[in-house]
Amino acid sequence: MKKIDAFIHTRRSHYVKEFTGETVPNEVVERMLANGQMAPSHKLTLPWRLKVFSGIEKDNLCKKMEQYYVEKTAAEKFDQKKLEKIRTYSNKISHIISIGMHLSHQIPEWEELAATAMAVQNMWLTLSDEEHAAGYWTTGNGTGSEMMKEATGLAEGDVQLGFFFLGMVTEKRWAALR
Ligand SMILES: Cc1cc2nc3c(=O)[nH]c(=O)nc-3n(C[C@H](O)[C@H](O)[C@H](O)COP(=O)(O)O)c2cc1C
Repeated sequence: MKKIDAFIHTRRSHYVKEFTGETVPNEVVERMLANGQMAPSHKLTLPWRLKVFSGIEKDNLCKKMEQYYVEKTAAEKFDQKKLEKIRTYSNKISHIISIGMHLSHQIPEWEELAATAMAVQNMWLTLSDEEHAAGYWTTGNGTGSEMMKEATGLAEGDVQLGFFFLGMVTEKRWAALR
C-alpha cells in the first residue's frame, strides 16, 4: 500500500465520548486549515468558510448547542441523555471548526457543496497522519439553523453545513466498516 492509500484507508470518525479533553496542538489545526484550502473549486470560488473555535469561544459555541437542543427539540423527542451528552462537549472537545459555504452564484450550488466537502476531506485526512488528534464532521447540533449561522459568523446567503469536532484520543481506530 502506498502512503496516500494508507492515509485514505485509516481516516476514521472519532466521537466526543472518545475525546480525552486534552488540547490538539495549534500546529495540527493550522495544517488542517492549510490543507483544506488546497481543495479544488470550479472558477476558484473557494466556497468553504472554515472558522475555528477554541478556548472560551468554543465553550460559548457548546453552550449555544445546548441552548439549541433545549429550545428546538419537540417535547416528545426530548432526551435527557442527549442533553447530558451535549453538556460534556466543552470539557471534551478541543476545537470546533464550523463548516460554512459561500455561494458565489457563478456556478451551480452543488459545485460549491462538492468543493466544500473536499476541503473537509482534506482536513480530515490530515488527521490520518496524527497518532492522537482525531474528530468527525457532525451535521447535528443545530446545523443549518439561523442560530448557528449567527453564532459562527456567516454572512447573509451563506450556508452552515455543520461542525468538525476535534479532540485528542488515547488510541485511534483504523478498521473501516466497508
Ligand atoms: C457529511 C457528513 C455528516 C456526518 N454527520 C454525522 C453526524 O451528525 N453524527 C455522527 O455520528 N456521524 C456523522 N458523520 C460521520 C459518519 O457517520 C462516518 O463518516 C461513517 O460512519 C463512516 O465512518 P468513518 O468516518 O470512521 O469511516 C458524518 C459524515 C459526513 C461525511
